Amino acid sequence: MRVVSGIQPTGNLHLGNYLGAIRNWVKMQDDIAGNGENAGECLFFLADLHALSMAHDPAALRAGTLEMAAALVACGIDPDKSILFNQAQVPAHAELQWLLSGTARMGWLGRMTQFKDKSGKNREGASIALFTYPVLQAADVLLYQATHVPVGDDQKQHLELARDIAQKFNSDFCGEDDPVFTLPEPIIPPEAARIMSLRDGSAKMSKSDPSEMSRINLHDDADTIMKKVKKAKSDADALPSESAGLADRPEALNLVTIYAAITGQSADAVLREHGGAGFGAFKPALGAVLVETLAPISQRFRELKQDRESLDAILARGAAKARERGRQTLAQTYHALGLVRG
Ligand code: TYM
Repeated sequence: MRVVSGIQPTGNLHLGNYLGAIRNWVKMQDDIAGNGENAGECLFFLADLHALSMAHDPAALRAGTLEMAAALVACGIDPDKSILFNQAQVPAHAELQWLLSGTARMGWLGRMTQFKDKSGKNREGASIALFTYPVLQAADVLLYQATHVPVGDDQKQHLELARDIAQKFNSDFCGEDDPVFTLPEPIIPPEAARIMSLRDGSAKMSKSDPSEMSRINLHDDADTIMKKVKKAKSDADALPSESAGLADRPEALNLVTIYAAITGQSADAVLREHGGAGFGAFKPALGAVLVETLAPISQRFRELKQDRESLDAILARGAAKARERGRQTLAQTYHALGLVRG
């Protein structure tokens, strides 16, 4: 088992990232570590190269990379159990992206919904990196022969593209019994695949939403969390006693989903307990479980982010291991393409 996943280090780690992906990273890390040496390995990285696809401030990217490393460690990523690094320290990511660019098709990339969303009406002015971003993402996982990629639902399409690229490369350039790339499986938590904005139940919770009130950041203090939850958009009805009753109530569904995911229950179990309650009662209960889970994380985050030297050392150590893990696949890719390296 080779578990690989990444997160962009621009903006804060928010509840959607945590419930949709990072919590699964920690779980997979601990399952693998508890299973002895042969069970596999986890590689988690800060996708700093991906940040170039949008306008960015270099100083903020540098600071954001270290802060995100601190946030991941605060959430439970243990640099002694997992390989934690940033892409920019492992040139093989960018190299493999170019090698795969001959295999990826324009039509495949043109269908990526994230490119359509992020480029919006300004497609002509979007960066080339925003368009080819999913090829870099494919390189990120294929470089390490990832078998499992824990992500939220919004990354599923990118993972399907990575599989398509791997499959086409294997069939175009490798013998039938000698494929270069493993096809990665996305691992998406059904109970928290898509956490929505607190201001709009039809938009996902996102770092790029201009409204701070739309998301809960993992370092928000208890008062801020309570305030955001109490101001979250909801409706005037009481909660139903079964999840089927939430079908046309996206904001209510989102708040129940968050409660269920954070307490590790099903939505039906939450509604058995809270069905009949209005949001005046449910929101403080939700705020309380969020504060209980997030307070220790944000406390650790505040301590860790002060120690820049340790964070630099963690990333340097992780990058050295990642460079080693990717070496063979990169060499095989050059070779399969008929390229002679210096
Ligand atoms: P990013 O940085 O946007 O998000 C990091 C992870 O958080 C998940 N996520 C969510 N899950 C549920 N609800 C939400 N509202 C929500 N918002 C974010 C994302 O699905 C993701 O798992 N392109 C990736 C980073 C990346 C990557 C990779 C991931 C680069 N290379 C290779 C996996 C494998 C991204 O921008 O994620």
